[in-house]
Amino acid sequence: MYKPFEIANNIYYVGVNDRTKHLFESMWPLPHGVSYNSYIVDDEKVALIDTVDICYSDVFFKKLVSVLGDKKIDYLVVNHMEPDHSGSIELLVSRYPDIQIVGSKRSVEMLKGYYGITRNLIQMEDLQELALGNNTLQFFMTPMVHWPETMMTYVKEKKIVFSGDAFGTFGTIDGGVLDTQLRTEKYRDEMIRYYSNIVGKFGSPVQTALKKMSGVEIEIICSTHGPVWTKDGDADEVIKLYDKLSKYESDSGLVIAYGSMYGHTEELAETIACAAAESGLKDIVMHNVAKSHVSDIIRDVFKYKGLIIGSPTYNNKLYPEVESLVSSLQNRSVKNRVFGCFGGFTWSDASAKNLLAFANDMEFELIADPVVIKQGMLNDVQEAAQSLGEKMAEKLLLVRTEVVDA
Ligand code: FEO
Repeated sequence: MYKPFEIANNIYYVGVNDRTKHLFESMWPLPHGVSYNSYIVDDEKVALIDTVDICYSDVFFKKLVSVLGDKKIDYLVVNHMEPDHSGSIELLVSRYPDIQIVGSKRSVEMLKGYYGITRNLIQMEDLQELALGNNTLQFFMTPMVHWPETMMTYVKEKKIVFSGDAFGTFGTIDGGVLDTQLRTEKYRDEMIRYYSNIVGKFGSPVQTALKKMSGVEIEIICSTHGPVWTKDGDADEVIKLYDKLSKYESDSGLVIAYGSMYGHTEELAETIACAAAESGLKDIVMHNVAKSHVSDIIRDVFKYKGLIIGSPTYNNKLYPEVESLVSSLQNRSVKNRVFGCFGGFTWSDASAKNLLAFANDMEFELIADPVVIKQGMLNDVQEAAQSLGEKMAEKLLLVRTEVVDA
């Protein structure tokens, strides 16, 4: 028997924890699981906000009954149609056949496309309201946070926003639901990994949504993944974090991501990292792309301003895992990075040229010429690698000083 958790007067958490799935969207590792959050506003009219992944529909329906008993649900509010949230809608409709489904124009189209649902649909316009009794829902269209149909739902009387994927994080809710019940430090890196990999491409729409919601007084944020953020807890901090990430702002650390088949390119990576450390830079993260998951590398690239990528030449191209990383960063339109690169080859130099072309395409600030190793390490190459590390550290420490002084 599940015990209902009341977030505020007559507003309940009815989400579920997924500690089974290995890969979110069949791509992103879930070392700490993920939650699919759903909420009930229990008023004269009952509104359910989003559903959960169909794999957890049995737990979800038990939770609904634990709050409502035999009471009917009048409205399902669909903030987001991605199946981790819409997956249980068909089953919900079969259990509550009179339920009316509320969503944006695009959600109404997707309900037909995904589930063949064409009746009891209410299409909401931007800022339109729906009275439930003591609570009024107001709908804010926030397209591309994370899909085009996304909207946020605001309970005016309680100052609670149901934000969809925005402010979400990987990681299950272990025991407590509110941030004030949890040690939330453990979610920080997973929130950045969630944002950068899932929503990171949509920095500009996230900025538009944040500006739109900035005039709304918010006490509690109920996202579709992770803890409920409160004013007494981390709500202000997570809003600041989303603002920072969606502007592609970063801290003054360095990511060195490299591929290496026989250790020569790796030797360059180590040389660069040591030189940066000897120059006083402490925040250095190194990723061997053949081992690190790309989602962890993308997270760190979103965290830090400095980026150095190294690759052997492979079949006259980049090493495949480096090529995949570069493509992932292009896909997310990462901006405002200080960049360096290094490449290795045996008979035909292609990797450094490709990395330079990438830097130009991304409009990154190039800190130094590419360092190129032909076969084994020679003294001049080692000196160039040291110089690259020193220049990068000098630049990043200067950026840090400017931020502290500002
Ligand atoms: Fe959690 Fe975009 O779905």
